[in-house]
Amino acid sequence: MSISIKTGEQIDGMRLAGRLASEVLDYLTPHVKAGVTTEELDRLAHDYIVNVQGAIPAPLNYAPPGYKPYPKSICTSINHVICHGIPNERPLKNGDILNIDVTIIKNGWHGDTSRMFIIGEGSIQAKRLCQITYEAMWRGILKVKPGARLGDIGHTIQVFAENAGYSVVREFCGHGIGTKFHEEPQVLHYGRPGTMEELQPGMTFTIEPMINAGRREIREMPDGWTIVTKDRSLSAQWEHTVLVTETGFEVLTMSAGYPPLPDFVKEALAANPPAS
Ligand code: MF3
Ligand code: CO
Ligand code: CO
Repeated sequence: MSISIKTGEQIDGMRLAGRLASEVLDYLTPHVKAGVTTEELDRLAHDYIVNVQGAIPAPLNYAPPGYKPYPKSICTSINHVICHGIPNERPLKNGDILNIDVTIIKNGWHGDTSRMFIIGEGSIQAKRLCQITYEAMWRGILKVKPGARLGDIGHTIQVFAENAGYSVVREFCGHGIGTKFHEEPQVLHYGRPGTMEELQPGMTFTIEPMINAGRREIREMPDGWTIVTKDRSLSAQWEHTVLVTETGFEVLTMSAGYPPLPDFVKEALAANPPAS
């Protein structure tokens, strides 16, 4: 087994899948508010993916070894839920923080992305956690270029999150992605510079740090999917699918409705524009 290198046409397939995944989040955004259930968001996403995009929601019936088939089309992780929350009939309420994770398959290619949403007026602590996690993801992405190593990405994310007083979840990581939802390599969100695989043009993988306000330990719920913080502290996550280019990176999961980039990302992109 090794890391697949995507070429020309395959990268175009990944570009389309990535954009469509991000557009599902754009589509959901106006619906994400107090009183709406995550089941309603799931139904909206499912119908949009299938009927408008002509794509497939990758989570639905996804069953990696040791898991029962995932029952819904998106993941919705609220407050102390770290990841893989299953949409249900509980209405969102003011002050909740919500991660929506969308993965679609288009023409055989996967696009995987997630964002945080704050319902109504979030607490200062909740807003800070979401913002620090967003910046942590972007600091990891900015490390992506040929010759860099996966450990450089993980280290950057870990140092940034821990300096902010938070902890990094270890049990789940980013992943290679392409014709398969999860392929090699594993992209850890912690680690040491100069370690792990060296990046090469044509690799595609996700960066999706899960950052806890409290301790890093996790607990799995009896549904076999939902992962929560053991200390019930808040947890946040952002995710992009990225391509390693000849000069750096291209974020594949961008779309018109994507939230504003942090200033340090704008500055880095202005200094080193992605080749078109
Ligand atoms: N989208 C998740 C990821 O980023 C995986 C979810 S698996 C599911 O890797 F079955 F829960 F959808
Ligand atoms: Co992912
Ligand atoms: Co995902």
